[in-house]
Amino acid sequence: MAGRIPQAFIDDLLDRADIVDVIDRRVKLKKTGKNYSACCPFHDEKTPSFSVNPDKQFYYCFGCGATGNAIGFIMDYENMEFPQAVETLAGNLGMEVPREQTSGRQGGSGRSGGPSESPNKALYDLMERCAEFYKLALRSHEERERPVAYLKSRGLTGAIARDFGLGFAPPGWDNLMKEVAEGDEALKRAIVGGVVVKNDAGRTYDRFRDRIIFPIRDRRGRVIAFGGRVLGDDKPKYLNSPETPIFHKGRELYGLFEARRANRQLDRLIVVEGYMDVIALAQAGITNAVATLGTATSTEHLERSFRFVPEVVFCFDGDEAGRRAAERAMNSALPTMSDGRQARFLFLRDGEDPDSLVRKEGADAFLDLVMSALPLEEFLFQCQGAGLDLATMEGRASLSKRALPLLRQLPDGVYRELMFQALATRTGLELASLQKLEVPPPEAPPSIAPLSDEEPPPWDSSDMPIDDEPMSVRRPTLADRAEVHVTHTQQAIALLLHKPSIAQEADRQALDGLSGREGDLLRSMLDLLQKRPESSTGMLLGHWHGTPEGELLARLAGQERLIPTTGIEAQFADIMRKLTALPLRQRIVEEINGLKSLPYEQLSTDDRARLPELLRALRDLDARSGPNGAANK
Ligand code: UTP
Ligand code: MN
Repeated sequence: MAGRIPQAFIDDLLDRADIVDVIDRRVKLKKTGKNYSACCPFHDEKTPSFSVNPDKQFYYCFGCGATGNAIGFIMDYENMEFPQAVETLAGNLGMEVPREQTSGRQGGSGRSGGPSESPNKALYDLMERCAEFYKLALRSHEERERPVAYLKSRGLTGAIARDFGLGFAPPGWDNLMKEVAEGDEALKRAIVGGVVVKNDAGRTYDRFRDRIIFPIRDRRGRVIAFGGRVLGDDKPKYLNSPETPIFHKGRELYGLFEARRANRQLDRLIVVEGYMDVIALAQAGITNAVATLGTATSTEHLERSFRFVPEVVFCFDGDEAGRRAAERAMNSALPTMSDGRQARFLFLRDGEDPDSLVRKEGADAFLDLVMSALPLEEFLFQCQGAGLDLATMEGRASLSKRALPLLRQLPDGVYRELMFQALATRTGLELASLQKLEVPPPEAPPSIAPLSDEEPPPWDSSDMPIDDEPMSVRRPTLADRAEVHVTHTQQAIALLLHKPSIAQEADRQALDGLSGREGDLLRSMLDLLQKRPESSTGMLLGHWHGTPEGELLARLAGQERLIPTTGIEAQFADIMRKLTALPLRQRIVEEINGLKSLPYEQLSTDDRARLPELLRALRDLDARSGPNGAANK
């Protein structure tokens, strides 16, 4: 296997590449002032909010928050892994990618894995090998006739089975195990990856046996989990991989990768319930269906979908359970309904699912149904009005009582206004009095999550796998426009990121006492920039790519409003002063607090003299460096 790509080479590469070139080859850019712009290739839009900054060598989308440097762009646009993207970019520039010889062990600390190796690389590799094993079994296992006949009976062609990477887990307890789990370490990994089960008695065996296998891929096409269906009517019908470090049910959408691959431009996603629904629709030519994985649709699912499309149509069973599921989906959708987004609800006849329907009645009939799906606003009022007599005052009052908490979850914008208006019309109440009823819930000030000092870092944990979306930031919400709480260290990092040249004047030594990972990051940035004064924002992002630090940098890079338009140098100098004073200030404060915690009588004469000295020193320090040192914990 190829060794690690040296960091110095990546720095060089980003230095030589021009991001405008790189993007313009793939998405036509237009010069707009200092920057270039285009319609964002990562979500659907009519007016361009995708902007490429040649000075900073990075791109940013004001619509969906996508951001990154030249390498990140290639990764996301071409669905490539980091090393592959580096190869591509280097190839364009006629550069050869060197590899380090060390077959570097997977380390626990974020950095040692390096950009070419995500901490979960071994797991991804394992999943890939399993997927290959299952695919091969569907082609050549001695019992392949049965799964093939089953898939045919469900109307699938070989081509569609290939597109979705379908496979077969042969009957038997250890077929896969023998293949991928030889040795202690491999076995442990297979258990972590969920393909091998260890029972209470300590026995280990294949999770999937005698089942059709559906590989679940992340949005970049990497296999992260599997679903397995019995060939007949046994129970349980489907088995799924458990949650693993690389698979989180509540976030993944089955079929999203395949849908994006099949459509360069997606206008809409159809959210269905089952694997077979997604595949049967694709077989019928409807290649934009995705499925939640046996879980309710979450806000996270929707945020993810709306990154790629402006419209989501939910497909549910027409029965009671389907209505309830739809209501839950509506609830998850409300906070994501920014202007320009649409959610609609389609209820199928009782007993039908998209698979059975499209096979019986064809693609056009199904698409007609999709076109007639209920918009969220109608569905909302329909549900909330159920059982109420709107001809009576009482009924209308109940409607407003039920609907208001829902409308309050909508993000600010025209859509929200319209919904309030619609409620006013339906209840006959004045808009003004409704809005008076509307007391906005208190909102916690948003903040940039700090880099923690604890090990293991929380970014490896389930709620934020950094190797999944390495260069992206959260879509900016309205709340983001409110005051943002960032530490001084983060401010300094943000300023450096947006104007790397200010590093030249900085007194790097003055920060020696600064503790914590953010302090380390700031120092390393200064070191790097003083060594390579020509570095751009994109290069900085690339340098820490794939690490928790990189995650923080990507978030800060997207926060342009943290950056003053003028006087960056002065602000940076000011923050540097505060940071320089910080360790000293902390020591003084600690000492003061220590003395104050004792009864005055217990203080020695020295201590009694020391206290006013300390207080004076603190006052002086604050006068010199500004009073807010304490804000930087
Ligand atoms: P359905 O029972 O509607 O299955 O479950 P389906 O997709 O129509 O399956 P076919 O047509 O009989 O093959 C919908 C989804 O719920 C999850 C699966 O993700 C399935 O695709 N599910 C269902 C399970 O995880 N386990 C089960 O036992 C059943
Ligand atoms: Mn079905």
